[in-house]
Amino acid sequence: MTLVLAIESSCDETAAAVIEDGRTIHSNVVASQIDLHRRFGGVVPELAARSHIAAIQTVVSDAMVPVEGDWKALDAIAVTRGPGLVGCLLVGTRFAQAAALASRLPIVGISHLAGHVYSAWLGDVELEPPFLALVVSGGHTDCIMLHEHGRAEHIAGTRDDAVGEAFDKVARLLGLPYPGGPSIQRAASGVSPDAYQFPVPHLPDSFSYSGLKTAVRHAVDRLPDGARNAVGVPEDPSTVAELAAAFQKAAVMQLVDFVARVAEERNVDRIAVVGGVAANLALREAVAARFAGVHVSIPPFALCTDNAAMIGAAAFHHIHEASDSNVGFDVEPDLLTFA
Ligand code: KG4
Ligand code: ZN
Repeated sequence: MTLVLAIESSCDETAAAVIEDGRTIHSNVVASQIDLHRRFGGVVPELAARSHIAAIQTVVSDAMVPVEGDWKALDAIAVTRGPGLVGCLLVGTRFAQAAALASRLPIVGISHLAGHVYSAWLGDVELEPPFLALVVSGGHTDCIMLHEHGRAEHIAGTRDDAVGEAFDKVARLLGLPYPGGPSIQRAASGVSPDAYQFPVPHLPDSFSYSGLKTAVRHAVDRLPDGARNAVGVPEDPSTVAELAAAFQKAAVMQLVDFVARVAEERNVDRIAVVGGVAANLALREAVAARFAGVHVSIPPFALCTDNAAMIGAAAFHHIHEASDSNVGFDVEPDLLTFA
């Protein structure tokens, strides 16, 4: 049995978890900073880093409750080393490295993206590679083939905005609160998505979301005089709802069309949808409808958004790399590793 303490602080969630053999969650503690960043409409890196400093000790202590705070009960420490915001990554890695030194535990740095891919493996005991993973979050829109544990192929990424970023930016255009994904989903609920037609790019090897965002802006700009308030947001809630629904439909369609093409080309029979945007109900419904004969894995909400349990799951396949001689490894804000 391998018991790992995993720590995640790459963006705006301070998280720690104790995970057994990559798949059994003993604890999964997340301190979200959503309230802190809401009034700015997005994550402010310096505030995020300072908030991690304030929260990390408590979050780790809470995660250690199942082992009664006993560091000797652990076999290793895993921590997100990238990608992410540099100040935020530094808080988690330096805390983890100090803890590893103090408790003489081996430590391993883990990719946040591998964490998202492995959130599906963690959430579904029947899921084993090879599987196709769609990582959709505030920072990423990636299609990955996990051929085997530790070996991934990056099939496509976004050439501009990430899909979650598009949700967040369009929510601002529509005067909906941060984070934009849940707000847009709520506004669009039960509303016809066909009042507006937005573009759905079908690029051969990438995703693109900036054109969709611009199309929503143009639709808002074209509203008749008096339909927008002083800051340019549509006044009429039903107009907001129709724009949100049409945007959500186009955003989801691009993802599902792309995955469907790749799945067919490669004869894939297992698909995972992970990351914060995987919480989106329209995406879940579209995936369920389109991939009826395929094993589809979408983790529960708590594993979709940033968390440390997924880092512990990914770490299980890198546990042989954990060492107490490399405690000073650096963070890698631009890391592009998916396994
Ligand atoms: O994975 P995550 O927690 O953090 C990153 O690594 O980025 O994802 C956060 C993103 C945000 O852009 C948020 O708007 C989006 O996930 N999101 C959603 C939903 N819930 C969260 N997007 C669409 N629909 C949702 N229900
Ligand atoms: Zn993430």
